Amino acid sequence: MCGIVGYLGARQAYPILIKGLHRLEYRGYDSAGIALISDGGILNLYKSKGKVADLERFAEAKDTSGTVGIAHTRWATHGEPNDLNAHPHYSQSRSLALIHNGIIENYAVLRLELESKGYTFRSNTDTEVIVYLVEYIRDTDGVDLCTAVQLALQQVVGAYAIAILSKDDPDCIIAARKSSPLVVGIGEDEFFLASDATPIVEYTDRVVYLDDGEIAVLRRGEPLRVVDLHNAPVTPVVRRLAMNLSQLEKGGYPHFMLKEIYEQPQTLLNCIRGRINIEGTSVVLSGIIDNRERILSARRIIIVACGTSWHAALIGEHLIEDLCRIPVEVEYASEFRYRNPVILPDDIVIAISQSGETADTLAAVELAKSRGAFIYGICNVVGSSIARATDSGSYIHVGPEIGVASTKAFTGQVTVLSMLALTLAHEKGTVTDERFTALVRELQHIPDHITQVLKQAPAIADLAKTFTYARNFIYLGRGYNYPAALEGALKLKEISYIHAEGYPAAEMKHGPIALIDAEMPVVAIATTDSIYEKTISNIQEIKARQGKIIAIVTEGDTAVRSIADHVIPVPRVAEPFAPILASIPLQLLAYYIAVHKGRDVDQPRNLAKSVTVE
Ligand code: M6R
Repeated sequence: MCGIVGYLGARQAYPILIKGLHRLEYRGYDSAGIALISDGGILNLYKSKGKVADLERFAEAKDTSGTVGIAHTRWATHGEPNDLNAHPHYSQSRSLALIHNGIIENYAVLRLELESKGYTFRSNTDTEVIVYLVEYIRDTDGVDLCTAVQLALQQVVGAYAIAILSKDDPDCIIAARKSSPLVVGIGEDEFFLASDATPIVEYTDRVVYLDDGEIAVLRRGEPLRVVDLHNAPVTPVVRRLAMNLSQLEKGGYPHFMLKEIYEQPQTLLNCIRGRINIEGTSVVLSGIIDNRERILSARRIIIVACGTSWHAALIGEHLIEDLCRIPVEVEYASEFRYRNPVILPDDIVIAISQSGETADTLAAVELAKSRGAFIYGICNVVGSSIARATDSGSYIHVGPEIGVASTKAFTGQVTVLSMLALTLAHEKGTVTDERFTALVRELQHIPDHITQVLKQAPAIADLAKTFTYARNFIYLGRGYNYPAALEGALKLKEISYIHAEGYPAAEMKHGPIALIDAEMPVVAIATTDSIYEKTISNIQEIKARQGKIIAIVTEGDTAVRSIADHVIPVPRVAEPFAPILASIPLQLLAYYIAVHKGRDVDQPRNLAKSVTVE
């Protein structure tokens, strides 16, 4: 989704802002723009539809001087992606420029009011009303810019992260947030501003995450000042960034997605480090242990998430019900938040989100909190909104995920859910010591198994060539592997744009089997588990109708091999961990099909990495 960058200091702002926009490209966008106060005191504004590179070409021969500026990548919501709707937006008199992430829900009313006062809008965006309103208040009330921003935001309904520049106050950037993230980086006599820490990390590791309703005043020569909408001062909490620059670069891989697929043995080691002891006899998730009584007394667990995180949640449901005997419900956060759900005070709500910024998941958390539930977060981005809104939680610690298609975050989420289920099961006594130890030891070896699976990448790349021209795909799995089938289908559709559906294998005969013919590739996850024989029968039904079968099987399997057109073997593991291993070849298959089709793998069309609007 939209990205914000800002700079104020002694250096030239333009190169820092452009580099920052490139760092934010992974979030997904369709236009970009920049506003700078030039060395001559002019408020210059350049914007362009398309990529940041298009903006750079547009700005090439123009005045890009200045030591203060703001820049933006826009993912269109109100108004089509074009030059006019791109941010920044000038105020009516062009003395202010503003960038905005989020959605202003009452923009139509505000726009009508301003139009009735003689204002003429230039774009179709909801954003433009904010900057017009700020200017109107500043000029009619005769207040300073910060006060005008505070008064304007008191009238605004919706979600926003904004940054605003004034030609009349060239040593200042004002920024504010509500339900959309904003981070201030603090350097030596300079400030950085961004919607996430990626554009900041190479300049400073000291950051302040703004909270909802806070306004940051970045003024040359002064320390950071934070106030609320009513001007009450807030003491900024300076945190250290754990991220490093190499995590934000491709490191020799052609795409971030491939790099992130290959990182998984290491990211899962990082995820379990310090939580499982070397002997493999104990698992400690401090977020659980610190809230032991509350969590152990849960009568029900509800998991809320979106997209890939929702698929991880479905595996979590199997894990928790199987090992802990606690009933679990998995909900799309976007549905949960709007359907007046029954949430009891002794429910535990687990929110899963890689970015920690997904608007629907955050809203589901707020709803569950307001009904008295205890909220546990499973996030990747440290300090993110969801991580901060929860009562307790566990980070997955897989490092920044830049590819829009989630890979290492998915396996990290499932690994944390596995540790969570094992911790709870052990505490509740719902697994025998033998089973507990066997599972913990297996989990320790998953990173090595992934390394083995990755060795098949060249064979999977070859296989992908055969299916590059398919128009549809079906993915099948049962039990623990059903969510892995859903995830495999999502990976393929989002990066290759091939239509793909995931089904529980036994459901095929209730309708979808009508789709099967010799043109239909079917990816079947058929690892050796408690319902292996049943899955084989389901594969036979596909084969009988000439479907082309690509099967993920356990090493040494012969039964499925004799029916399938292609097999990809994975090491034998305990059933609860099968979906982690099965997802690796499915990530590679989707990746190579998309590459063979010439798709923009890291930034697929229409998608955003961090979905901060509902
Ligand atoms: O950051 P989150 O985990 O909350 O994101 C949820 C989904 O938007 C995300 O998983 C999305 O489905 C990915 N593009 C999947 O690859």
